[in-house]
Amino acid sequence: MFPTIRPRRLRRHATLRALVRETRLSPDSFVYPLFVRHGKGVRDEITSMPGIFHFSPDTLLEEVGAAREDGVRAVILFGLPEQKDAQGSEAWADDAAVQTAVRQIKAAYDDVLVLTDVCLCEYTDHGHCGVVEDGRVLNDPSLELLAGTAVSHARAGADLVAPSDMMDGRVGAIREALDSAGFGDIAILSYAAKYASAFYGPFREAADSAPQFGDRSTYQMDPANGDEALREVALDLDEGADMVMVKPALPYLDVIRRVKDHFEVPVAAYNVSGEFSMVAAAATNGWLDRERTVLETLTSIKRAGADVIVTYHAREAGRLLRG
Ligand code: PBG
Repeated sequence: MFPTIRPRRLRRHATLRALVRETRLSPDSFVYPLFVRHGKGVRDEITSMPGIFHFSPDTLLEEVGAAREDGVRAVILFGLPEQKDAQGSEAWADDAAVQTAVRQIKAAYDDVLVLTDVCLCEYTDHGHCGVVEDGRVLNDPSLELLAGTAVSHARAGADLVAPSDMMDGRVGAIREALDSAGFGDIAILSYAAKYASAFYGPFREAADSAPQFGDRSTYQMDPANGDEALREVALDLDEGADMVMVKPALPYLDVIRRVKDHFEVPVAAYNVSGEFSMVAAAATNGWLDRERTVLETLTSIKRAGADVIVTYHAREAGRLLRG
């Protein structure tokens, strides 16, 4: 029998393909991660992430302006401290690099949204995301430090705070601290389903945040678990998260879809450093077509259900989409 139904009929012509396309990428859904440290005129490329830099607040402002030209108007900031200590005290210092950069970006651009990553691992000398005692990462004593960090970011002018530490109860602690400091309208994007992933490797070079002993598997999730992600998301929403994130993105597209299907909140996905570096390395070797790979990657994350994509490809994808 000759087929009556021919799916190829709708693929004959580029305009027709565009007409029936289900998933459309837009730079409106991108968040561009940026690393900021103290100083002036800093623009140091991160070895394992070609094209991604450490900035000082002044050069960071230029990068935000350039991203804006590419259509990208949301950024998430990660800070490197001048000095690390056991508590990570520079995380909540009002004159630290992140807080300084937030103030400068908000003063320069009305239409740019600034998110801040709330965590301690970049700031602690042991490289863990919470308070350490006798080789253990303690949950409850970490909450106060994380909440203080979030309030300090809000005071600097952050629009959203994004806790990435994976301590239990941190969303509630941060919500309460923000509310009592008068920041009731600052939203929380919770890294709700964050896995203990090998794909953070290049980030740990970028943020100088590799744990000095052990790993993060006592607080970040086991890559084998999917149901548990739904439970983590439900808990964070109960505690007051406004948006939730799944991280990494590509190895967890199934998790993104499940979260999207189960909850009526905006879902973000973090296309992490290792995902970026794989594409960059393969493209540099001529093994992959960079532009097509980037757009296919981001499309797949969106198709899986992500409303928001945090990605180091934000600027290049913004340019590609602008044609
Ligand atoms: C901090 C944090 C990490 C990332 C975002 N926030 C690293 C980690 O948990 O080790 C990873 C981002 C990336 O790989 O791009 N806790």
